[in-house]
Amino acid sequence: MDSFAPILLFDSGVGGLTVLAELRKLLPDAPVIYAADTAGLPYGEKTEAEIAARVAGLLGRLAERYRPRLITIACNTASTIALGMVRDVLEVPIVGTVPAIKPAAALTRTGTIGLLGTAATIRQRYVDQLEAEFAADKRLIRHAAPELVQAAEAKLRGEWVDPAVFAAAADGLRAQPGGDGIDTVVLACTHFPLVEQELSKALGAQVRFVDGAAGIARRIAFLTAGQAFSRRIPDFALFTGDPDQIRKVLPALRSYGLDGAEPF
Ligand code: DGL
Repeated sequence: MDSFAPILLFDSGVGGLTVLAELRKLLPDAPVIYAADTAGLPYGEKTEAEIAARVAGLLGRLAERYRPRLITIACNTASTIALGMVRDVLEVPIVGTVPAIKPAAALTRTGTIGLLGTAATIRQRYVDQLEAEFAADKRLIRHAAPELVQAAEAKLRGEWVDPAVFAAAADGLRAQPGGDGIDTVVLACTHFPLVEQELSKALGAQVRFVDGAAGIARRIAFLTAGQAFSRRIPDFALFTGDPDQIRKVLPALRSYGLDGAEPF
């Protein structure tokens, strides 16, 4: 294994940075390329076919150009829809993102779990299967909160976000039958841990949040165990969308150790 070969993290926007933060703790020397399909954001409002086509096409081109040692789809929406398909066509190890229903089921005391994700994620059979496997004896209340994706993007551009956005997401869970009993919330979109503090204010301090970022980082470390890591150039980001939007997010990218952003 070439020690300069990067780990590629992929998301539709800044959400995958929550995975990168955990990865830095375990593998600080690993060279990383962060790729954001900002032209396709938000994935959560697209059809399964659109998402699968974008993700497979982009990851194919990225793999060819940057020869990563491993790809992480740091996006629940893309993973729950396209992970199997991408694994079939690319010869690179691929780590996906799974809604953290299993750890949430272990944590809840009331037996009622909330799940916040994108519209595309919460309707996936994959989520039904996780619920059946790990939370069959619990109540799982799902709510699609696409506005939280935009809120996280805006926050990382340094913009003010109306707290009503977080109150609406909290109401979306609480207003459903049994919603008052929620004590644990799965953040089933990698963007959402970026606004966890704001969500905590809206839902109340007694609610705990669970996301998959630390688990994904552990999986990457496991799959690359024993490999040498070195950097020839500083880590950087790639993006597909409007350069002006990316320029605004550069200070946030730098705080995650990404030294610049290039169009892809
Ligand atoms: N970060 C993505 C996820 O984990 C979703 C954002 C989007 O809708 O594009 O699901």
